[in-house]
Parts: sequence; C-alpha cells; structure tokens
Amino acid sequence: LIRYTRVAKGITADKLRGFFVGWPSPPSPKTHLRLLEASDELVLAIDDGTGNVVGFITALTDGILSAYIPLLEVLPPYQKRGIGTQLMNLMMKRLGKLYMVDLCTGEEMRPFYERFEMEAMVGMAIRRHDRQTGLQ
Ligand SMILES: CC(C)(COP(=O)(O)OP(=O)(O)OC[C@H]1O[C@@H](n2cnc3c(N)ncnc32)[C@H](O)[C@@H]1OP(=O)(O)O)[C@@H](O)C(=O)NCCC(=O)NCCS
Repeated sequence: LIRYTRVAKGITADKLRGFFVGWPSPPSPKTHLRLLEASDELVLAIDDGTGNVVGFITALTDGILSAYIPLLEVLPPYQKRGIGTQLMNLMMKRLGKLYMVDLCTGEEMRPFYERFEMEAMVGMAIRRHDRQTGLQ
C-alpha cells in the first residue's frame, strides 16, 4: 500500500535511495532530504510495507501569486501505477488557488502534464552541471 504525506518528518536519508535516475552527479540521499525539508510544499509517496519513499514532488512558492515545481520522480519499479498522477493531484490541490504554477520538462512529458490543465509555454533555464550534486 502506498501512503502520501506532506511532511518529511520521520524520514531519514536511508529511506531515500534510488532517486535521480540518469543524473550523472546526483544529490546524495542526505542532500535529497535537505532539499525536501527546504521546499515550501512537498508530497511524498511511501511504501507502507518498507517505509521507503518511492516518489516525491516539491514546490517553491511565494504563497501569493506563483509557484514552481522543480522535481517530480517515482522510482522505476513503482512507475505506471498512478503514483505520479496522485503526487501531481495532491500538489495541485495545495497550489490550486495561485495564479501561476510553472515547471520545466521535456516535450515527451507534455501529455502527462496536460492532464493537469497545464499548457506548454517557452521555458528559459540554466543547468550548471558542476553543481548537480547540490550546494552544501
Ligand atoms: C513522470 C513520472 C513521475 C510519472 O510517474 P508514474 O507514477 O509512472 O505516473 P503515472 O503512473 O501516474 O502515469 C504514467 C504516465 O506518465 C507518463 N510518462 C511517464 N514517463 C514518460 C516518458 N518518459 N515519456 C512519456 N510519458 C511518460 C505517461 O503519460 C504515462 O501514462 P501511461 O501510463 O498511460 O503510459 C515518472 O515516470 C518518473 O519519475 N520519471 C522520471 C523522472 C521524470 O521524468 N520526472 C518528470 C520530469 S519534470
């Protein structure tokens, strides 16, 4: 059974293994935990059987006009079961009163996000690959 929570309370770094698939220099589980705690909004999907985090979504927001969703990921063995959809639904509920909710993604993900009433726009972004592990 998968349960969803909006707080990282009680989560330890050892419950955060296997994320950032395909990232050459991923943040460590410890850094991952720090960024979850530092986010304004957070939803975690937890496998009740193991207590491990199997999916997460974060958002940064001013709480007045705008929000940005930097990260959404579900562990590969848990994908295609609706967990990503549920994480987005729960996050959009939190951000539902705001004027703007933005995120950046690849063209192949467009149909997924269009399910949440999002439309494609031009995004501008920098990726500093030497900082991919995260600031200490
Ligand atoms: C995107 C992601 C969070 C979806 O999680 P999930 O739990 O598998 O999502 P759901 O089961 O709710 O929905 C699956 C849908 O995601 C979409 N999807 C996932 N990965 C996709 C990909 N690489 N290309 C196109 N669509 C994709 C499909 O529309 C799929 O629908 P389908 O089941 O009808 O084929 C997950 O695939 C993931 O972690 N991917 C790697 C990280 C990533 O790409 N994050 C988002 C970028 S901002």
